[in-house]
Order: sequence, then structure tokens, then C-alpha cells
Amino acid sequence: MKIKFSEKTDKIIKNLALEAKNFGVKIYFVGGLVRDIIMGIEPLDVDILVEGNAIDFISSLDFVDIKSVHKDFGTIKTQIEGIEIDFASTRKEFYPLSGCLPEVVELGCSIEDDLIRRDFTINAIALEILADGNYRLIDKFSGCHDIKNKTLKVLHKNSYIDDPTRILRGLDFKLRFNFDFSENDKELINEYLKSPSREGLSVDRVILTLNKLFSSNLRAKEAFREFVDKKYYRILFDNKDLSCKKIFDAIEKFKIEDYSKVIIKYILDEPFDVPELKTRFEIYKYFKQFDADEICVYYTNTKDERALLYFSKLKDIKLNIKGSDLLNLGYKEGKLIGFMLDKVLEAKLEENSSVLNFNDEIEFVKKNTIL
Ligand code: CTP
Repeated sequence: MKIKFSEKTDKIIKNLALEAKNFGVKIYFVGGLVRDIIMGIEPLDVDILVEGNAIDFISSLDFVDIKSVHKDFGTIKTQIEGIEIDFASTRKEFYPLSGCLPEVVELGCSIEDDLIRRDFTINAIALEILADGNYRLIDKFSGCHDIKNKTLKVLHKNSYIDDPTRILRGLDFKLRFNFDFSENDKELINEYLKSPSREGLSVDRVILTLNKLFSSNLRAKEAFREFVDKKYYRILFDNKDLSCKKIFDAIEKFKIEDYSKVIIKYILDEPFDVPELKTRFEIYKYFKQFDADEICVYYTNTKDERALLYFSKLKDIKLNIKGSDLLNLGYKEGKLIGFMLDKVLEAKLEENSSVLNFNDEIEFVKKNTIL
């Protein structure tokens, strides 16, 4: 098998394989990197798995610049001749509760035990990096076959219970690569969603996975449609009233460029109440405290036209005059200046206001002066 790394990266990897042999450990490519190589996608990052303790192995090499070490997980970030390479130790994991972060039960376990803790067969293929520059394929779970058939299969029946974010990861792979869950996986997912246990759920991990799922505008809408239709929100809530039409309409109306944040807000945030606001000035002052994403989600939940009025007509109205202009008109430093500036803004925000430019604002101050 030939892998398209740069010449420099290739040389470093060959050297690492020789050093690993001398140190008495085996090293591998695994996970997304191998999946991408098999699918013909050029690898971006280089991650290496050490069957043993990666930290001990890397610390024995004098040509490696160690950037950070995570002892509990046996991971180590490095730079070698300017190229960033992350190393991990093989590990066995255990999920004490459904959806929680896994506990490492053994560092430096066999490659087989490391592979079996992984999400999908397509991500559980390893390539042993041999000292002679060749690679040895380890495909215990027929991941290559599933890549060919574009099928997503977990490795054991408790996989989605252990880590329900795998449902969302699967959806991401499905949309990115045009894969689909196997029939058995569809059943396992439905079973999980019927009675999800959220007691130990790592919400942070779910949010991280949602960020990744919705990160591409190209797929975010499709991903959200499926998230709603297939009730994947049940990973987090028993029920949630989510409407694709409402959020997509609001995204258009509020000209949101990055859908991901808005969609995640819509999923996670509780709708909030806005007090009675009598004038355009009050609407302006109130909504000014929120960013476009928050107002967009508020509008999606409430259809409150005041939010749209603020966003489309009021938010960009700004004063041209400053406090110093009022000083020039005879005002003294103090609260009165702020009060008068607000009065001008209030007039400027009126529908069909005649206060439009700097001169209009000055004239308004002169006419309505409270000196
Ligand atoms: N993994 C897992 N369960 C998760 C997350 C990750 O088993 N909930 C394993 C998978 O084997 C995965 C590897 O960790 O291949 C690395 O995960 P990650 O970097 O998040 O994704 P990739 O599979 O590399 O895919 P990509 O970065 O291309 O999305």
C-alpha cells in the first residue's frame, strides 16, 4: 500500500518505525486516518498509535520536540522537523454509565483491544507501520468491506448505549461520505432512543459532536432535518419542539452565515420572555444586548415581530454626533449629555424620521435643547 505523505513526512515515519522496532514496540495508523487513506482521501494530520506506552517510547527519542503530554490517556503531542505528529498509547476503555466519558482501564493493551473500543468498523482498521517501509493491514471487523459498501456498523450491540454521540458521528459520516447505517444499526439506534439513559451523559461531549455535525453549511440543514425526523434530540431530551421550517426561515431572514451556532442554540437553549416594549427606542435598547444568533433563535421560537423589526430596520441606525458636539453647543460634561444623545437617537429611530444625518441631529438638539 502506498500512502501519499510528503517526502519529508515519509522519511520521518520510516525513521519512527525503525526506532519503534529498536525500542520493542509496534506503531500503527488507525481510525479516521486509515479510513481516509482507503477511501482515497489525502491524509491531513499524522496520528500514530503505539502498542505500548507512547510517552515512554517518544521520551526515548532525542530528535522529537515534545509539545504536551497527557499522562492519564497516554497521549503526547510532538513536532518532528517542524511537522506536528500526535502519538497515543493503545488503551482499553470502560463506560461506567451510558454516555459518560470513558475511563481508561488499561494503557498499552494489545492493538486488538484498542480497536474494539472504537465506534464503527470503518474506523477500526489499523495499518502497522513496518520498519522496511511497508504497511500491514489489520482489519478484524471487515471495515474495508463496509467502506466499499458504504455501511456504518458499530462493533458491539452496546456501542450506542455506551456512547450515544456515535449516533451523531454516524450521521456526520453518512452525510459526508454518502454512507448509511446498517439495518441492525438502525434497530440499535431506535432501541436506544426509545429509552435513553441520561444519568451520566456527558453533555459537553454531545455539544462537541453537534458542533462537528453542523460545522459545514453544506450539510447543516440536512443534518438538522434528520436530527429532528429521526428524533436524535432524544439523546438530550425526552421531547423537544423543533421545527426545521421555522429555523431555516429565520436563518434566511436574519442572514445568518454560520448556521452551526444557531442550530445548536435552537436545540439547547430554553426560549426566553421579552418584556413589553412600547417604542422603537425601547425595542432597540432591549435587543441591542443580544447578538444576531440569539435574536434569530428567539424569533424562531416566538415569531415576535419586534425582533425582526430590530434586526432589519433598527440595529444599524447610529448617531453621527458625539458628546463633544454637545459640548460645542454649550452642554456641560455630565449626565445631561447622555440623556440628550438618547433623545436624538429616539427621534432618529422613529418611523419615517426626518433626523437622518449629522446636520439633522445638530438641528434636533438645538430645537429640543434642555439647557
Ligand atoms: N472514536 C470513537 N468514538 C467516539 C469518537 C472517536 O470510537 N465517540 C474513535 C474512532 O475510532 C475515530 C477516532 O477515535 O476514528 C478518532 O476520532 P475523531 O478524530 O473524532 O474522528 P475521525 O474518525 O478521525 O474522523 P474525522 O476527524 O475525519 O471526522
